[in-house]
Amino acid sequence: MSKKIKVSIVGASGYSGGEILRILLNHPYVEIQQITSRKFAKFAASLAHPNLRKRCSLKFCRVEELKPCDTLFVCLPNGESQKYMTHFRKLAPKIIDLGADYRLDSAESYNYWYGEHASPEQISDFVYGIAELNRSKIKQSNYVACGGCEATCSILTLYPLFKYNLAVPDRTVLDIKMGSSGTGGQPSLSTHHPERSGVLRTYKPTGHRHTAEIEQELTKHSSEPVKIHLTATSVEAVRGILVTAHVFLREGVSENDIWKAYHQEYTNEPFVRLIQDKIGVYRMPEPKLLAGTNFCDIGLEKDKNSNRAVIVGAIDNLGKGTAGQAVQAFNIMYGFEETVGLEFCGLHPI
Ligand SMILES: NC(=O)c1ccc[n+]([C@@H]2O[C@H](COP(=O)([O-])OP(=O)(O)OC[C@H]3O[C@@H](n4cnc5c(N)ncnc54)[C@H](OP(=O)(O)O)[C@@H]3O)[C@@H](O)[C@H]2O)c1
Repeated sequence: MSKKIKVSIVGASGYSGGEILRILLNHPYVEIQQITSRKFAKFAASLAHPNLRKRCSLKFCRVEELKPCDTLFVCLPNGESQKYMTHFRKLAPKIIDLGADYRLDSAESYNYWYGEHASPEQISDFVYGIAELNRSKIKQSNYVACGGCEATCSILTLYPLFKYNLAVPDRTVLDIKMGSSGTGGQPSLSTHHPERSGVLRTYKPTGHRHTAEIEQELTKHSSEPVKIHLTATSVEAVRGILVTAHVFLREGVSENDIWKAYHQEYTNEPFVRLIQDKIGVYRMPEPKLLAGTNFCDIGLEKDKNSNRAVIVGAIDNLGKGTAGQAVQAFNIMYGFEETVGLEFCGLHPI
């Protein structure tokens, strides 16, 4: 390919923006044109992302200084990108948004979970960014809204069960454990080291906003509306999400039936790995192995004494949970191999 795609990253000093920058620096078909930050404007990228020393010579600029480009990656806090979106669309024909502003299909649903939307007329232009569910729609779209990190892990963990009608649609309980980078780089009292270090803190027993996108996307692939029951807990890790799903199976469904469905959906997926080892330390997915990767690992077991199955999924929240997912969608939009730039297989031991 002779001409590289010119991309700019809005909110590039944050954790998701920094991860996109790291991935795209290794992407053979991309030229990174501009990166924005208000706090770091005029300073080198490596001031915010020291891992990029000697890898990136770009300096941050302000959003107002953005020039036209081919694709904009928008990595702003929830609620911010909708304020800029009309302007962004004039700058770039393709936009990949990492926040929550365009994930929900309707303004009513957005209003219920997040508050009033500043540009509701643009919501229907966006396609939900999980490639494993929406590959052909992403290919045809110019606007992609990447899934939330907890939502992405939950959806991938459960999707084949509902697609193949194996589970009772309204009784799934999700226990989600979350690393500290999931809340971004902006400090607060709850993320301050003495308050955050060593915690096992349930921050959302009920009412987690990702419930909306999980139910929305799973219902699209199910014969009946899916309802999930979600609790989220902060744990002692920087990167990583572990979803433990307690699923109640329909009458007569065996563990073999579940594996068959998961293989049917995921065996040919480059970034979903089914963990079926019966021996060894890593018999179930573990997020720490996935740091810096775009993988989602999934394992499962059916309870011999009941119709409960436990499905376990793990991702890096900054990888498949956001920046990796965004680059995978970018590759699909441009017809590149989906794995370009995303080949890193992680570290062991770590
Ligand atoms: N962290 C994760 O694991 C994760 C996972 C999935 C999805 N996401 C989504 O990704 C988005 C970014 O999250 P993050 O964790 O990367 O947040 P972050 O670390 O706080 O980064 C936010 C970025 O936006 C910039 N910014 C903030 N307010 C702005 C404004 N009003 N105008 C212009 N720039 C502004 C910040 O830089 P300046 O303040 O210097 O301008 C920074 O570069 C969020 O919508 C989040 O929901 C994050």
